[in-house]
Amino acid sequence: MPAIVVIGAQWGDEGKGKIVDHLAERASMVVRYQGGNNAGHTVTIGSTVLRLHQVPSGITRPHVAAVLAHGMVINPPALVEELDRLAALGISTENLHISPNAHLVMPYHILLDEAEEELRGAHALGTTRRGIGPAYTDKVARRGLRMQDLIDPARFRARLEVALERVNLELTRIFGREPMTADEIVEKYAPAAERLAPYVEDTSLLIQKALQRGETVLLEGAQATMLDIDFGTYPYVTSSSPSAGGACQGSGISPRQVSAVLGVVKVYTSRVGMGPFPTELKDDIGDWIVERGHEYGTTTGRRRRCGWIDLVSLRYAARLNGFTGLALTRLDVLSGLSRIKLCVAYRLPDGTETTEYPLDTELLAQATPIYETMEGWEDEDLSKARRVEDLPPQAWAYCQRISEWMGVPIDVISVGAERNDLVALRWPV
Ligand code: GDP
Ligand code: IMO
Ligand code: MG
Repeated sequence: MPAIVVIGAQWGDEGKGKIVDHLAERASMVVRYQGGNNAGHTVTIGSTVLRLHQVPSGITRPHVAAVLAHGMVINPPALVEELDRLAALGISTENLHISPNAHLVMPYHILLDEAEEELRGAHALGTTRRGIGPAYTDKVARRGLRMQDLIDPARFRARLEVALERVNLELTRIFGREPMTADEIVEKYAPAAERLAPYVEDTSLLIQKALQRGETVLLEGAQATMLDIDFGTYPYVTSSSPSAGGACQGSGISPRQVSAVLGVVKVYTSRVGMGPFPTELKDDIGDWIVERGHEYGTTTGRRRRCGWIDLVSLRYAARLNGFTGLALTRLDVLSGLSRIKLCVAYRLPDGTETTEYPLDTELLAQATPIYETMEGWEDEDLSKARRVEDLPPQAWAYCQRISEWMGVPIDVISVGAERNDLVALRWPV
């Protein structure tokens, strides 16, 4: 009963969608366990580029059940739009399953996300403004609405009216915004409720049955370890737990059932939004990586901040998640650089050096990276590489160095965006 967890090891956009799509070939189920449509996961099949936000990346494989588990916050109209977009591309969305316990992102959550960002001014977090923080806030404050409310029209209206009493105080008195009415929200959400109702069922039971049949279940993380509410660069984080523990909590399986935890690592670093980023490059090389790697966000189109690989934070991610294997992605993007730097330690403001990730966000913001330099390789197209021998020796040496530092073996190396552009070394379990 192998459950394989796939987690971003950096600040998101490592290529989780592509890796999940690859592994889904041998899985029967792919489960999203946290986050909502703040995620943007890209899967490229031939000339078709799928941008998935709430639907798990396994949807591309007809034999795979796609599960939206209770750890997610779901925006129903946005989900329906996503399903329609997939259907228009000829992708069946019938094998979809949504937990009745998943919380809803409501229109007022989006307003509150925007209003809070504006209020923060210079201290804005740079959220995706998809209402994710306020939706999880309501969940933890025990006043959220869930999928099981959505699909029962009378219950939905009744609970919404109660929720709006408080929400409207917040919108009008704190943020000076217009209040919202139950009617306008019901009008927007009722058609989505009708569309989604047939897919709502106990997903943790469904996952358990698949595991008991001995099938492979993939748990697809959104966001990433360094955006985790507990482990990331708080407060510049998302409001959920993308890390390994969150996978069990958000999907409803036992830690004893997880047989592998795959860390997805981009071979350099990127970050969208604000917050400390020790290896960020604000120079020509940073610009070069952004342009060569088309580093613009899948969800918001924002330019991603880019920099060298940070092995200090990656070791921290490996420890917290217990990675059993690595998926190294975007190796092709670095082709043509004569030298590649790897951050192996931080120098702190008092002059000391550390190879341990500092938990103090202010200290982290002042840490300067200490680099080791490796030789790069020619500007050649790596996307056709299928075996390690097809890679330039310097590129393979670079991958091995990352693996050594993290103390985790390499399972797969991705060398291009397309589904088949990869070197598979071993299966995760
Ligand atoms: P995710 O959020 O982790 O799923 O990653 P995104 O999809 O937001 O961003 C990763 C981007 O890199 C997407 O455009 C992918 O198509 C692309 N990608 C994934 N792996 C590779 C790779 O090995 N090389 C290149 N050039 N692009 C890749
Ligand atoms: P995937 O799954 C990259 C970032 C936002 C912001 C912070 C909080 O595609 O890797 P939120 O809207 O979640 O409250 O924003 O988190 N962020 C992401 N960055 N990839 C993502 O998802 C992200 N989801 C949220 O930019 O800094
Ligand atoms: Mg993304």
